[in-house]
Amino acid sequence: MPECHSTNSYSLQLCQQSPLAPEGTVVITDNQTAGRGQRGNTWITQPGKNLTFSILLKPAFLSVKDQFYLTVFTSLSLRDYLHHKGCSNVRIKWPNDIYVGSKKICGILIENVVSGNRFSNVVIGIGLNVNQDQFDVDTATSLRLSLNQSFDLQSELETLLAFVEARYLKLRQNDLQSMMHEYLSLMYWRGEAHMFSTNDNYFEGTITGLDENGRLKILTSSGENLFEVKEISYVR
Ligand code: BTN
Repeated sequence: MPECHSTNSYSLQLCQQSPLAPEGTVVITDNQTAGRGQRGNTWITQPGKNLTFSILLKPAFLSVKDQFYLTVFTSLSLRDYLHHKGCSNVRIKWPNDIYVGSKKICGILIENVVSGNRFSNVVIGIGLNVNQDQFDVDTATSLRLSLNQSFDLQSELETLLAFVEARYLKLRQNDLQSMMHEYLSLMYWRGEAHMFSTNDNYFEGTITGLDENGRLKILTSSGENLFEVKEISYVR
């Protein structure tokens, strides 16, 4: 669509109003006017310069307790794509921000419709900075800034979708352990001492991994602590 409030909101509405909308439907816009990010944030990008789209999936094979693997397979597919493009030092900032070096190049917002203990619909929203070369914050980057060239959005979309599909097929084959292993090996700040913050506290700690529900494990002077997404921020 030339313009859309949020491709995630549109896709969620689509799968509720049209239950026959096929798995693999992609909703994409040149100008997203009310993009949504994680933790209730907004996602703002310059019109016509970046990829802002959502993929509708129906992973009825996945049990709700394995929800974190939606994050894992999506993050890995973005990493595969960026690696293929020649970006170096691609890392996954838990749970699903994609970084090149110390800058964010891509955000992912996954929203689910659950029925019983299975997923009926999953919307994978992806915002990938492609040709934008100026950002309000100095913690953002794009393909253009990383690789010093411009890209055709349609052809990048097609390449990226092929990587998403390949990883989705692995998820469908239940290749969970090896994907988790790869995810862990690509985690931003893993094994390094850094500052983090919670609502009431700043502290130093080292990311050691994840528990079986995808919660972040951080080792501090008082021992190992587990955090949900909304409970913790990375500081420096
Ligand atoms: C984040 O990093 O906070 C996640 C950002 C996700 C942005 C994408 S852009 C396409 C899709 N539609 C939305 O409204 N959000 C996601």
